[in-house]
Amino acid sequence: MTTKKHKISASILAADFSILKEEVKNISTSGADSIHLDIMDGHFVPNLTFGPDIVKCIKKESSIQLKTHLMIKNPEKYIDAYIEAGSDAIIFHQETVTHIDRFIDYIKSKNVKAGISIVPSTHESTLKYIYDKLDEILIMTVNPGFGGQKFLNSQLEKIKNISIMTSNIANIDIGVDGGINPTTLTECVKNGTNLAIAGNYIFKSTNYKERVIKLKNCFN
Ligand code: DX5
Ligand code: ZN
Repeated sequence: MTTKKHKISASILAADFSILKEEVKNISTSGADSIHLDIMDGHFVPNLTFGPDIVKCIKKESSIQLKTHLMIKNPEKYIDAYIEAGSDAIIFHQETVTHIDRFIDYIKSKNVKAGISIVPSTHESTLKYIYDKLDEILIMTVNPGFGGQKFLNSQLEKIKNISIMTSNIANIDIGVDGGINPTTLTECVKNGTNLAIAGNYIFKSTNYKERVIKLKNCFN
């Protein structure tokens, strides 16, 4: 178990986009710490979602932080648009950027938090020389591209290794994304997670508050 602040981020991908304004308002008062925005380009991942204009709309209705998870190739090209749209944090994929150190500096120069995500097949050692600059490491616990997939137990070892590797940094969030519910989160917490991203578990229910509490209880 970790002594870091425990956080829940609600992945808006699982919300009902026909009533997006209402969904954003409801999740903002659910006790969730932030809204997680899945940006997909149909290239890095086999699915498309939404762009910066929708992020701007979500920002207008949200009273909690927006964390933008860029599952796109060439994130350098689009980063400014997502920052200007109101992202409080940008999480990009290690697999999509060559000059990672420089890119982190750029994000931070805009006063935005910087995080890196890695897909299930990426080894944690790729973060060794840059993790001390990061606000967050996001471990994908499914293959990115879709909500509602089954949690990959193979990633538990990776969570543990990353927790150990980063134990000298007090305020780095160790997040998990994909297939998160109380059962899977409990296993992640045992291995050092302090940040849970959940889509279907929260939004496919009638009581978001209750679902957020159930997830928060996994940290106890
Ligand atoms: C997957 C996305 C996740 C997804 C999580 O590519 O990055 O954030 O929305 O959704 P659930 O919790 O439903 O697996
Ligand atoms: Zn995500």
